[in-house]
Amino acid sequence: MDRKVLIGICGGIAAYKVCEIVSTLVKSGAETRAILTDAAQQFITPLTLSTLSRYPAYTDKDFWQPSHGRPLHIQLGEWAEIIVIAPLTANTLAKLTYGFADNLLTNIILASSCPILLAPAMNTDMWEQTAVQRNWQQILAEKRFHGISPSTGILACDRIGKGRMAEPKEIITKIKSLLYTAGKKDLVGKKILISAGGTREHLDPVRFIGNPSTGKMGIALAQAALHRGANVTLVHSIVGKILLSGVKMIEVVSAAQMQQAMLAHFAQSDIVIMNAAVADVKPAKYNGEKLAKRSLGNSLPLKPVPDIVAELGKLKQSHQYLIGFAAQTGDIVPPALEKLWVKNLDAIVANPIDQKGAGFGSNTNQGIFLDVEGRQLDIPSCSKLEMAHYLWDFVLERYGANY
Ligand code: C5P
Repeated sequence: MDRKVLIGICGGIAAYKVCEIVSTLVKSGAETRAILTDAAQQFITPLTLSTLSRYPAYTDKDFWQPSHGRPLHIQLGEWAEIIVIAPLTANTLAKLTYGFADNLLTNIILASSCPILLAPAMNTDMWEQTAVQRNWQQILAEKRFHGISPSTGILACDRIGKGRMAEPKEIITKIKSLLYTAGKKDLVGKKILISAGGTREHLDPVRFIGNPSTGKMGIALAQAALHRGANVTLVHSIVGKILLSGVKMIEVVSAAQMQQAMLAHFAQSDIVIMNAAVADVKPAKYNGEKLAKRSLGNSLPLKPVPDIVAELGKLKQSHQYLIGFAAQTGDIVPPALEKLWVKNLDAIVANPIDQKGAGFGSNTNQGIFLDVEGRQLDIPSCSKLEMAHYLWDFVLERYGANY
């Protein structure tokens, strides 16, 4: 990631977590520079940040230092492709909301034009104050500002409540998204429904028919949509712990449960992506007790599960856009095209799961986007988050004009 990231650190205990963000960004190839407010230096030192970033870490001392070049805040404001403020305190939030510029960080904000990502962290009572909430809502309504709300958990004051800074991993994913889109909020107001992961069809409480899907692609689609401003619902199978604050999450196990959840949310959705790998069949009979090995026999009678996306295709209204995923091997286009038409989809992604670095469980993916207008667009091998953004770009090219 050959990009320029400026991290502003304010005075909060979550400042120590920013070291991990800086370290990860540097390892991924991003040029990363850090600014510490006076209060931040009560928690971590410029030495920590300069060592991790391989650049000087700036403080207000540098701001007031006579320089031979252009003023520091102008140089850094122009240099940054994204500015991340983490942790963001109530004080700096208020200053940003009203355009104050009384230190290096707030001057840089006014001297820059790139997207700004804010990751607040504070005690629950402070976070819930009317003034703080008003400032938060007000600043997020501005085009340049993006937020990653605090999560709920144990706080430094020993309380359990809302106020923990979002996890570094979640912040890094959002930085990547904002760098990809240059901070476009082009899905604001859109209700998006996504399914992710592989379903399990149980024979008894321990055995099931399933597949290796990990849900990574569907999660990336949800993250990318969220980062572009959408209102996202993710119906997912058992995929482990997911960091997705701001997304409505519904966990299901079987195709029947996924069908129920998708149908319950379909009518109010604008764009629906059926990314889940749904088991096509299930054991004809479910046994409530674990079957003894000797009673398993040599064959397992099966019956089909509902084709969820085909059912959604029948219910689809003219304002809705429905996308499927076709996990294929060999020649991926003809079977994907057949599914596009048979299931009444608007578009489908043919996903070559037999290619190295694509498909189930992989962190990267590739595919071909096919739509009813005959477009056939290649998505080169890239991270699943990037592939998700490609897809949203393709959908939005048509969505704005036709829906
Ligand atoms: O399994 P198949 O290749 O037909 O999957 C193509 C699309 O159909 C995918 O979007 C998948 O999520 C969906 N599907 C479904 N219900 C099934 C099987 C597949 O919605 N029972």
